Amino acid sequence: MGSFILYGPVTLRGKVEISGAKNAALPILASIPLIKGITVLHNVPRLEDVHTMIQILRSIGVKVEWKGENTLLIINEGSCTGDVPYELVRKMRASFNILGPLTLSVGKASVAQPGGCAIGLRPVNFHIDGLEKLGFSVSISHGTVHATAPGRVDESEVVVSFPKVSVGATEHIMTTAAGMKGLTLQINNAAQEPEIEDLQNFLNSCGARITGAGTSSLTVEGVEELQGCEYTIMYDRIEAGTYLIAAAATHGEVEVVNACSNHLGALLEVFEHMGVNFTCNENGITVKAGDVYRPVKIEVNPYPGFPTDLQPQILAMLSTVKGVSLVKENVFKSRFGHVPELNRMGALIVVEDSVAVVEGVEELTGAPVEATDLRAAASLLIAALMAKGETIISHIEHIFRGYEKVIEKFRGLGVNIVYEPRDVE
Ligand code: UD1
Repeated sequence: MGSFILYGPVTLRGKVEISGAKNAALPILASIPLIKGITVLHNVPRLEDVHTMIQILRSIGVKVEWKGENTLLIINEGSCTGDVPYELVRKMRASFNILGPLTLSVGKASVAQPGGCAIGLRPVNFHIDGLEKLGFSVSISHGTVHATAPGRVDESEVVVSFPKVSVGATEHIMTTAAGMKGLTLQINNAAQEPEIEDLQNFLNSCGARITGAGTSSLTVEGVEELQGCEYTIMYDRIEAGTYLIAAAATHGEVEVVNACSNHLGALLEVFEHMGVNFTCNENGITVKAGDVYRPVKIEVNPYPGFPTDLQPQILAMLSTVKGVSLVKENVFKSRFGHVPELNRMGALIVVEDSVAVVEGVEELTGAPVEATDLRAAASLLIAALMAKGETIISHIEHIFRGYEKVIEKFRGLGVNIVYEPRDVE
């Protein structure tokens, strides 16, 4: 529970440094049951979701300690236990990715089945089908998924072809197979997100043999054992995209340090269409926003398409762009919890069949609004910066799941955010 109170409009100015990627850190941490000995991870963001994953690792017997601001020392002595407490799993869907690695390391394991969440139905059927293809027995009872690992794998070749692109299932199946000596796995229709390449690079540094991450076709040759290594996690492209949109939406001038233009191609293309000025160099991306923007049509798709995790933020920005913009969400079709709240601030957005039709208004006005999930919280924060007057965003705690030092970083760009740890009545 908590609220942000902001007075707008504010023009962002200055420099902001991007943190390590949450969506790279989580699957890397979920692979730890398979990785024996000492692992040192640098550039780990201190976020609620990362803390939850650390608690899960501790609960199964892995030693995890912070060493310095963003470095984790992890020791897996090879004596994990197989039950992950429901209370921890229910907080975060990405924790389900521990099932394969944990089952393989202890023989049998149980992880609670993740439920739906604010951005829609999020099943785990591709994960379960994939584990079964790898030879695991999987059953579900009382809301928990129980898995038993196959015994020794004779030389075998397995093909998993996902019916739909899934980031989590690609990572889960690829990681699990990495520890299965004798098995060669081919994944077709794999997700191509940069975080999957980061996971591949980490696992290969631990002795895995994975090729193809970053393309739709991956090959994993299982090995006997994975040994800990020292690794630096990539920067967070979604955090970077959020600050870039916030800068553009407030017609500001912001240098986003560590933003990687290669990973943000779809957003930068949208900026070009809209008339947002930006420059890229090896340190990051600087937005020097224009005065007037053009409306756009955006299709939200798996990488390298426009990311669903930036859809709520760009919708906030488009709400004051003169003309009609269209945003079609193809990843999480009902991810529009932020729309009624943006409309309460004066936006004119109608959603039909997963398409948001945005009719640009002259200005937004401050209002009390409620954040329904992590990226909706970021969207409302951007809207609050654009809006005239006071905005109180309740349930802002979602934002701490994905944005490290968010208050400090926005204050550094000239925003006066008041944080009330309890919701303002
Ligand atoms: C990951 C990201 C999340 C991002 C999402 C899409 C992490 C920790 N989270 O989530 O921030 O929004 O990718 O880019 O990296 N699906 C099924 N069955 C399954 C799995 C998925 O039907 O077993 C469907 C989902 O409902 C969704 C689509 O596939 O419609 C994509 O989901 P997926 O890529 O799996 O998302 P996550 O890995 O959960």
